[in-house]
Amino acid sequence: MGVCGYLFLPWKCLVVVSLRLLFLVPTGVPVRSGDATFPKAMDNVTVRQGESATLRCTIDDRVTRVAWLNRSTILYAGNDKWSIDPRVIILVNTPTQYSIMIQNVDVYDEGPYTCSVQTDNHPKTSRVHLIVQVPPQIMNISSDITVNEGSSVTLLCLAIGRPEPTVTWRHLSVKGQGFVSEDEYLEISDIKRDQSGEYECSALNDVAAPDVRKVKITVNYPPYISKAKNTGVSVGQKGILSCEASAVPMAEFQWFKEDTRLATGLDGVRIENKGRMSTLTFFNVSEKDYGNYTCVATNKLGNTNASITLYEISPSPAVAGPGAVIDGVNSASRALACLWLSGTLLAHFFIKF
Ligand SMILES: *[C@@H]1O[C@H](CO)[C@@H](O)[C@H](O)[C@H]1NC(C)=O
Ligand SMILES: *[C@@H]1O[C@H](CO)[C@@H](O)[C@H](O)[C@H]1NC(C)=O
Ligand SMILES: *[C@@H]1O[C@H](CO)[C@@H](O)[C@H](O)[C@H]1NC(C)=O
Ligand SMILES: *[C@@H]1O[C@H](CO)[C@@H](O)[C@H](O)[C@H]1NC(C)=O
Ligand SMILES: *[C@@H]1O[C@H](CO)[C@@H](O)[C@H](O)[C@H]1NC(C)=O
Ligand SMILES: *[C@@H]1O[C@H](CO)[C@@H](O)[C@H](O)[C@H]1NC(C)=O
Repeated sequence: MGVCGYLFLPWKCLVVVSLRLLFLVPTGVPVRSGDATFPKAMDNVTVRQGESATLRCTIDDRVTRVAWLNRSTILYAGNDKWSIDPRVIILVNTPTQYSIMIQNVDVYDEGPYTCSVQTDNHPKTSRVHLIVQVPPQIMNISSDITVNEGSSVTLLCLAIGRPEPTVTWRHLSVKGQGFVSEDEYLEISDIKRDQSGEYECSALNDVAAPDVRKVKITVNYPPYISKAKNTGVSVGQKGILSCEASAVPMAEFQWFKEDTRLATGLDGVRIENKGRMSTLTFFNVSEKDYGNYTCVATNKLGNTNASITLYEISPSPAVAGPGAVIDGVNSASRALACLWLSGTLLAHFFIKF
């Protein structure tokens, strides 16, 4: 082998060396597990993609030839490198150990590797499996989506990894964090408004922490008026009618009295919309303001309305009385405390002198 080049092996030379190794590595010789004789390779080697794998073979001084093979391809024979792969290097070649290293291991390196030795003209082999692990990684996931209530939605989450990761979907709802699918696909038919929100896809294998990503589903639905309360106000006071509607997208509001649409600035009223809530404010309620008002909530999926009554109540009495009583109690107790304090001080005074 010394006459051959190191990396660049002429074809003729290869054949010669291969023939020389043929007797050394007979094909089809079964690896007898539990055989205590040489060579002794290690148990299966598990490494992560990108890491280095060490293939170790324990020998003794009766061994005359050694080689490491990848399937039927010789990687190293003694100190001579046969593999053209720069990631394969020799680590140890001593009378007791023969080890090589594969750097930056990739998934295609997975498989059986064989340590082959010759002792007293008897070839022996030992096999080790290189197992390559890959952390879970989500490769393709659905984008955030907006749908109308009642439609069907399919979310997709594709993940790679070794071993093959388990993919699950959870709904990160306010109530619970229930699993909704133990699959790459999450199918929701006839989606309801309470199924909106964030969904989390998680890809899990036992190599590394799970890869987790989120998708948001927005469910559109027409307005629904959740609060509309009749309100009593006396003449000359400020009156506020409020109307609350839930809707996606958010509702827009209009106020009517009979068939007349109301607007800020007209007839001493102001309309304010804040999120789900709309208020109609009367700055100075007069007799003509009493009656039924209609709050209309609209979004692109529809509209709904509610009738709210502004009714008259008699003016509330002044609230001076109770305040005065409390003040009286306070001053009375303060006076008592004062008396007690001076009494104590007085007592002290007399005891001391
Ligand atoms: C080594 O890996 C191979 C292939 O995955 C398997 O058949 C064998 O049982 C493993 N041996 C040990 C000792 O784990
Ligand atoms: C082992 O053999 C496989 C299949 O031929 C090949 O893809 C891989 O690169 C080889 N690995 C090493 C370290 O030689
Ligand atoms: C993700 O998957 C979808 C559906 O299979 C496909 O149309 C799309 O091209 C994929 N995107 C990427 C980045 O692989
Ligand atoms: C409310 O309206 C009445 C009648 O128009 C008027 O006399 C009164 O001054 C007003 N009050 C306020 C606070 O503007
Ligand atoms: C206002 O509405 C109530 C109930 O919706 C109804 O009973 C009442 O007659 C209405 N009043 C007017 C003035 O339309
Ligand atoms: C309120 O709703 C009813 C029935 O849904 C409809 O007939 C009416 O026209 C609506 N009123 C307004 C002011 O939109």
